[in-house]
Amino acid sequence: MTKKRMMVIGAGQMGSGIAQVFAQAGLEVKFNDISEDALIQGRKGIENRLRRAVDKGRITEADMRDVLGRITTTTDLKEASDCDLIIEAVVEKMDVKTNVFRQLDEIAPEHAILATNTSSLPITDIAAATNRPSQVIGMHFMNPVPVMKLVEIIRAIQTSDATYEAVEAMTVKLEKTPVEVEDFPGFVSNRILMPMINEAIYTVYEGVATPEDVDAVMKLGMNHPMGPLTLADFIGLDTCLSIMEVLHEGFGDSKYRPCPLLRKYVSAGWLGKKSGRGFYIYD
Ligand code: CAA
Ligand code: NAD
Repeated sequence: MTKKRMMVIGAGQMGSGIAQVFAQAGLEVKFNDISEDALIQGRKGIENRLRRAVDKGRITEADMRDVLGRITTTTDLKEASDCDLIIEAVVEKMDVKTNVFRQLDEIAPEHAILATNTSSLPITDIAAATNRPSQVIGMHFMNPVPVMKLVEIIRAIQTSDATYEAVEAMTVKLEKTPVEVEDFPGFVSNRILMPMINEAIYTVYEGVATPEDVDAVMKLGMNHPMGPLTLADFIGLDTCLSIMEVLHEGFGDSKYRPCPLLRKYVSAGWLGKKSGRGFYIYD
């Protein structure tokens, strides 16, 4: 099954990267958000990244024009009516995602696959909100999408083999590496990564070390490309908190309790890089 027409829903940092890699692979992409401003910013981000690639001689001006020409922006979800594959990358909230999937189920063609880029929410529950659960799947890209090779592909209990195989083939077309994962809280990536980030926040909360020093230990001592607090700011502290809540509730184990300092930052609107302040201050 070759999927040609795509829609990416959500023009935040993930949606904009996902739209870019699909367009670079030659696919027509409809880029959707409820916010016109988010679409403008998302497209601007794609243009800036492509411009850098042109400046570095990796692609030509004509390539850049072609890629941008394949991306059309829209705030109207009904434009999903002729799409073969739809990837949702809206905020990490179950009610928002199920609402989008219910609408998509009504709008999208019968054969269309509905994928979610959720970091941790149960794909099985999202699938159950539709009348085509066998065509619902998790397609979990890593941030920054144009750079990171992994796509974690998560099978809901209802996902068919045909759906899995189509999404796996698409991942390879994007020159990414698929890894198959079952649907359990946090999948593999965030079940392992997020408790480390949460523990780094506890380390600051308990006054063991400053954010700078925690990051220095993990960068210089463990060769991580970013320290865990820089990474938390990069991911978004709201997303980190949502993932910890899913792990905590999903496993019912106190070892996953979100650090109170993380809650406090999110309540204050200190969401990391995207809001200008998190563990660090950004211009
Ligand atoms: N978007 C797109 N491209 C980016 C980028 C961004 N935000 N940031 C950096 N890049 C590109 C740069 O343009 C550069 O590309 P070229 O080599 O083509 O010029 C390349 O990445 C390397 O960038 P830099 O030299 O500026 O910086 P770096 O060597 O420190 O690498 C990094 C930057 C790739 C982001 C690196 O710091 C890194 O790998 N960090 C860890 C990222 C990570 O762990 N991601 C997973 C997050 S968890 C997740 O995604 C799952 C979830 O559900 C939360
Ligand atoms: P973000 O906050 O940067 O962007 C979310 C976007 O969704 C916003 O532009 C918002 O306007 C839009 N949106 C909200 N409700 C919508 C709706 N009903 N219809 C259309 N658009 C809507 O978030 P993000 O960091 O890009 O994360 C998006 C998803 O990707 C989340 O599920 C997150 O868990 C997942 N994810 C995030 C990361 C990361 O590192 N940030 C990595 C992998 C997966």
